[in-house]
Amino acid sequence: MNDHAPSSGNERTTPAGGSTSTDVVRLDDGHHAGTGGLPARFPDPGLPPHVHRLADADDRAARRAERQVATMFGISMLGTFVFLVAYFAIDASTGFFIPGIGNANLLNVVLGVTMAISLFGIGAGAVHWAKTLMPDEESVEERHPQRSDDASRAQAVDIILGGGEKAQLGRRPILKYSLGGALGLFALPFVLQVAGSLGPTPKHELAETIWDIKPSGDGKPGAPIRLLRDPELTPVKASDVTIGSVFHILPETFKDSTHLLEDKAKAAVLLMRLDPDNFDAGAQGQKALQWGYQGIVAYSKICTHVGCPVGLYEQQTHHLLCPCHQSTYDVTKDCEVIFGPAKRPLPQLKITVDDAGYLVAPEGFHEPVGPSFWER
Ligand code: FES
Repeated sequence: MNDHAPSSGNERTTPAGGSTSTDVVRLDDGHHAGTGGLPARFPDPGLPPHVHRLADADDRAARRAERQVATMFGISMLGTFVFLVAYFAIDASTGFFIPGIGNANLLNVVLGVTMAISLFGIGAGAVHWAKTLMPDEESVEERHPQRSDDASRAQAVDIILGGGEKAQLGRRPILKYSLGGALGLFALPFVLQVAGSLGPTPKHELAETIWDIKPSGDGKPGAPIRLLRDPELTPVKASDVTIGSVFHILPETFKDSTHLLEDKAKAAVLLMRLDPDNFDAGAQGQKALQWGYQGIVAYSKICTHVGCPVGLYEQQTHHLLCPCHQSTYDVTKDCEVIFGPAKRPLPQLKITVDDAGYLVAPEGFHEPVGPSFWER
């Protein structure tokens, strides 16, 4: 028994709504027996003695808690307001530099931070409200079987079928079908809105990479893009690439990227040099050779199965292996798939050298890189 329990709702109650200051209250039939308010057949749940909150006994503490909760909700409103203003006011292409991290998109950062503040304010306010001001009750109830008895289940089925019968859905099918059509169509605008805001299709998105040459300001074709070694971001000379070696490559345009991870995920390339005699004598091998430079060839590093980085080059067999599901590509045959679940070859990047002997790509990929699930 707690002789000093206040009457502010900080009590354990019976299902009938009656209050008691006992430590634990049962909720089934209200028969109290034994000490502590529990019937004798209840095992002691082992709850610690109930501790009453400051706000239950002190009105000033309650008002202070009220102000704190309102402040947290106010912070949430402020976060939402700034989110909305930023959404319309900040140009989506604005970037800024974060020391130690690199370039970042200003709009994404502001939206993320303000959304976090907004959600945190609501969450923190609700938790604080629950802990300080909401009714503080502890109840014990025997767990009853989840399944209803057969009679109740049959009655529920009768009620549902009877409701349909009373509404004459069975006798008037036109009502049933027109209602279904109306409700189905009603959902369509929401589905279209969601689908329309999902962004471009993967095919379109994966067809553009930062290897694509942009026209220069005077309308002339843009300059070829140098191949940079990853992660040093230094240009690569054809003479640096010896037979059997492999380089991880990014385009020179990566240095100006404002979407580092996104651009890198699509533009990563593997560069290898083979003896030109190693290429297959058939059409595939000869095309691969022509798009390369003296046996140096460049292929997208993104597996065409589900997009893992193709990481392993076997010098002896000239095979590229994806570690995720073991798709294997034959470099001597235009990277055709010779094993595994991938369905199409790795896209090849056409390369040549500039006047200074550095490897460059005179044009972007001719096909989308990465997974090809959008083709199925
Ligand atoms: S992602 Fe490469 S084999 Fe599955």
